[in-house]
Amino acid sequence: MDHKTIYNSVAFFCLVLYLLPLINARPETTAGYNFYDKSDGQLSYNFYDKSCPKLAMIVRLGVWAAFKNDSRIGASLLRLHFHDCFVDGCEGSVLLDDTKDMKGEKNAAPNRNSARGFEVIDRIKADVENSCPSTVSCVDILALAAREAVVMSGGPFWGVSLGRLDGVSASEKSANEQLPSPFEPLENITAKFASKGLDVKDMVALSGGHTLGFAQCFTFKNRLFNHKGTGKPDPSLDSSFLSNLQTICPDTDSSNTKLAPLDSLSINRFDNTYYKSLLNNTALLDSDQALLRDSKTAAMVKAYSADPFLFSTDFAASMIKLAKIGVITTGQPAAGAGGVGQIRKKCGSVN
Ligand code: HEM
Ligand SMILES: *[C@@H]1O[C@H](CO)[C@@H](O)[C@H](O)[C@H]1NC(C)=O
Ligand SMILES: *[C@@H]1O[C@H](CO)[C@@H](O)[C@H](O)[C@H]1NC(C)=O
Ligand SMILES: *[C@@H]1O[C@H](CO)[C@@H](O)[C@H](O)[C@H]1NC(C)=O
Repeated sequence: MDHKTIYNSVAFFCLVLYLLPLINARPETTAGYNFYDKSDGQLSYNFYDKSCPKLAMIVRLGVWAAFKNDSRIGASLLRLHFHDCFVDGCEGSVLLDDTKDMKGEKNAAPNRNSARGFEVIDRIKADVENSCPSTVSCVDILALAAREAVVMSGGPFWGVSLGRLDGVSASEKSANEQLPSPFEPLENITAKFASKGLDVKDMVALSGGHTLGFAQCFTFKNRLFNHKGTGKPDPSLDSSFLSNLQTICPDTDSSNTKLAPLDSLSINRFDNTYYKSLLNNTALLDSDQALLRDSKTAAMVKAYSADPFLFSTDFAASMIKLAKIGVITTGQPAAGAGGVGQIRKKCGSVN
């Protein structure tokens, strides 16, 4: 057997083990399985154990079904969770459709024709409603789905604490202002993370989410033909990588919606090769390559590229922090979210 065969066999074996509990669906935190604390601030790991014991398995099965149909969906679900939490906190606002009185986040610049996975969350929510009506928030479902997506892509497992309520509003303006852009300098992105209580280490670790998924040409095209107004490509780009990208996104194609993988070394596998590509000057986004231009972040990039275990543990720890930003729980309304929360019946609209 060659290495690839062995790798694939081991990966398949792990996947079977992971999905095995589906045969006899049980809550995530039954005796012998809770290797983490039960409570986590206002949230807790066993929040729905009694009220919706099948929750974790319904989400896992839903993500698995979506995965079989669309290998990109893991990436899209991870990003959706990030975009939810980074804009006015984790309260499911990204899932809300626009109404005549409210311009929501779905059509904000970073999300329009870009954010994906809404139907998957809606479908899982419908299954959860069948099993336990008006019990589980959409924001909690999204947080669980993002974790499943990472695990199914070969990434780390982390305990998702639960008990968030869904917010009752969303803001296009907040999404445009708060989400990081691939065109802004590292200092600005650092400041946006800091404003959410996420430090530089969180920023570098979470950027490893770009080990999955794709970006459209318009998000990096300036690097290919007209870097900083020079009329020339970004001189730091690896030359064969550059010519590949110029083929995918020719100057003559004005649609700029073709896709290139964010981590071309392993497209749909969650691993640390994203950091290796930064070291090779083959990062897709300028905002990714920028992590290597600053000495503090560069040291972390090197550490993560050398040590996949370090990356996995740090990524998981930062995801736990991300999923706690601005949550609304019973008895403790969050600022900025209108001070109220609810369990939405449908994720696209408030009750
Ligand atoms: C650090 C600042 C970040 C910037 C500037 C940024 C920017 C982007 C851009 C421009 C895209 C491509 C969108 C498109 O072309 O439609 C993208 C995709 C993606 N981002 Fe980020 N991102 C950042 C942080 C993160 C974080 C923290 C995560 C998750 C932990 C993440 C996960 C993803 C994923 C998985 C995709 C691919 C989605 C798909 O294929 O559907 N990003 N990001
Ligand atoms: C399957 O994935 C495609 C995108 O690749 C999507 O358009 C379609 O809605 C998905 N179908 C189902 C049943 O999830
Ligand atoms: C970066 O942040 C500064 C200060 O907030 C702002 O003036 C500048 O426009 C930002 N740059 C970009 C490219 O967004
Ligand atoms: C980095 O680039 C070198 C030279 O282009 C290539 O041989 C090597 O495989 C690359 N490494 C990774 C991890 O992509």
